[in-house]
Formats: sequence, C-alpha cells, structure tokens
Amino acid sequence: MVTIQLESISKSFGATKVINNLSLEINDKEFLVFLGPSGCGKTTTLRCVAGLESIDEGKILVDGKTINDIPPQKRDVAMVFQNYALYPFMTVRDNLSFPLKLRGVSRDVIEKKVQQVSELLRIQVLLERKPKQLSGGEQQRVALGRALIRDPKIFLMDEPLSNLDAKLRVETRTEIKRLQRELGITTIFVTHDQAEAMALADRIAVLDKGVVQQIGSPNEIYHKPETTMVAQFMGSPAMNMITGTYDSSTQDVISIKISNSESYSWQRKETQDIKSSYKGEVLVGFRPEDTSFRSGPGDDGIPAEIYVSEPVGTHTILTLKVGEKLVKAFAPSDASPKIGERGSVSVKDGHVHLFSIDGKRVA
Ligand SMILES: Nc1ncnc2c1ncn2[C@@H]1O[C@H](COP(=O)(O)OP(=O)(O)OP(=O)(O)O)[C@@H](O)[C@H]1O
Ligand SMILES: [Mg+2]
Repeated sequence: MVTIQLESISKSFGATKVINNLSLEINDKEFLVFLGPSGCGKTTTLRCVAGLESIDEGKILVDGKTINDIPPQKRDVAMVFQNYALYPFMTVRDNLSFPLKLRGVSRDVIEKKVQQVSELLRIQVLLERKPKQLSGGEQQRVALGRALIRDPKIFLMDEPLSNLDAKLRVETRTEIKRLQRELGITTIFVTHDQAEAMALADRIAVLDKGVVQQIGSPNEIYHKPETTMVAQFMGSPAMNMITGTYDSSTQDVISIKISNSESYSWQRKETQDIKSSYKGEVLVGFRPEDTSFRSGPGDDGIPAEIYVSEPVGTHTILTLKVGEKLVKAFAPSDASPKIGERGSVSVKDGHVHLFSIDGKRVA
C-alpha cells in the first residue's frame, strides 16, 4: 500500500513562488498525471516528492508518514527523466544492473532481475548493446527498466516520452500504461500534452502557476472543466470561447456577442444542472468536436461562413467566421466544405459550457 499526500506545500526560487500552497492526495496504485503549461511547476513538484528539492512550507507524506527530512536515496522513489540519462559507455545490461550493484545486491540476484525486467520491457535482445546503438524508444525502455529494477515504491516520470517521435510516443505510452497496471506502482507522470494525460491517467491534476486548478478523472476534466484555463487546455483545437450574457431566470437564453454591435440569442437546451441562479456577463464555451456547420440558410443555429478548412483524416476542422469571431467546428471527413460557403453553426445539446468572466464554471 503506497499513498502520497502533499499537504499545503510551497516552494520559491528567490522571489518567485513556483508552488503555491498545493495540496493533493495520490491513492495506492494510482496513475496520477500532472498536466499544465510550461513553467507551471510540474517538474519542481515532482523533484520535491523525489527529495531533489526541499520544500519551504508544508508536508509530503508517504503512507501517512512525513518524508520531508528523508534524503532522496532513502525515499524508495524511482524517477525517469525526459532525457534518458543512460550511462553511454555501459551496455544495456550494465545500465540496468548499476542501481542494484550500488546497493550491494548479489550477482545472482542481479542477473535474475535483469532477466525479469528485460523480458517485461522486451529488451532482451538489446542487453549487450550500448545506448548509442539504440533508437530513442529503446533507450527510453532501458531508462524505464533501470528505474523499475529496484522495485521502487513510487514511480515519478517527467515527460518521459517527449523526445520520441509521434508514433513511438503513442506506442511507448501504451507500454507504460500496461506496465503501471501490471506492477501496481503508485505513479506521478508529468506532461504538458493533454492527449497523453487523458490516455494515461486515472486522475489528472491540472496545474497552473503552482496551483491545482482541478483534479479529476480524464472524463470529468474534459466534460466538466471548472475553469476556462482547464477548458481551453484540454482538447485540440481548444474550446471556442465567446463572451455573452446569460440569465438563468429567462428560460436559459444565452446571448452571445459576435461583434461589437451584434449579438445573437441562443436557446440553451441544456439538461445540465445550474449551480445557482446567474445573471450577467459570461464566457460561452463549446468544443469544436461538439460544434457542426450546416451549409445553406438554416433556421436554427448561428449564421456562419467557412473561413478555413483543414482535413486531418478522421475528420475535417473548419474555422468559421461568426460575426467578427472565429469558431472551430468539426465536419465529417467525407464532406467537401468550400471556403466562403455560408450556413449556420450549431452546438450539440448539453455541450455548452458557461463561465463567469473571471473564468469559473457557472453551468
Ligand atoms: N533551480 C531553479 N532556480 C530558479 N528558478 C527555477 C529553478 N527551477 C525551476 N525554476 C522556475 O520555476 C518555474 C517552474 O519550473 P518547472 O520546471 O517546475 O516547470 P514545468 O511545469 O516543469 O515546465 P515545463 O513544462 O517547461 O517543463 C519556472 O518559472 C522556472 O523558471
Ligand atoms: Mg518540466
């Protein structure tokens, strides 16, 4: 059983507060992903858990015991970095054996462990090679192996896939997920790639400026973002966001401002609960994948014109001109949209997100 608790931890470099009173709990065997923009404090938080950085305030607990004062080598934590940091002059076998040799483990046991780990990661045939004779994906598997070989309590991974090409990244991601499930090691994985976060995580913690914006399952984060930051960080292309006004007492009519002088009224057919009555300015969010375009004059939807069309294989991304705003929508891949074509844009029922002007979810 391995749980991790971060209790109100803070960390500054000079005058800059990089982690700001951050609290969260990681459950036993959980795969938790830290997701957030560059510089939001992901690596720093991970390094604090590993003991490579000290915290200024707060507590880090493993299984309920404070580890603040325990040095990194005694924390039983394995960390995998973005650059694999293999020893270049050692063979794969020696790279894998090294952490165990350091601990004075006997030769027989080391041999057995190397065998196990290399089978698990399917790198048996690479054991006698040096790192420079390996592809990026293979090097990354060896780095994972070197971290795994000493049966750590906790696995920390800092963007371990970012040096791999797109195809290898997706493949290695699948391997990591399978491994983590198979071994049941409590894991924190850092990425700024939202698709990677969704694919891997049991839960995602979205960080911004050293603060947890939201923590939840990939589906919660994607379907019920609590803030505009989370809403626009998850999903690609990002969620459309237009200012408007909303009055929950008037049959859920949203008025969206499509230019300085023009507004458009939109009947909200939501079944989602509304947190409280709300009246005033809002940010109206809707995802491209929930938004569609119909050509020709339509009596429902908002008048729009195709501005750009980008086929991506599985579907086509349309950029639509709606008043003076640009809105992204998805069209089926077999559609043949033409630039300048006029029509109307509509959003799937139940898929409009409303946020207050300061970015908090209203409904
Ligand atoms: N040793 C250090 N000294 C001074 N400032 C630092 C140090 N390490 C990190 N920082 C600053 O702390 C902030 C958070 O850095 P961190 O590496 O945790 O970000 P990150 O979320 O991992 O970003 P990225 O996605 O780019 O890796 C940054 O503004 C960074 O410049
Ligand atoms: Mg980082």
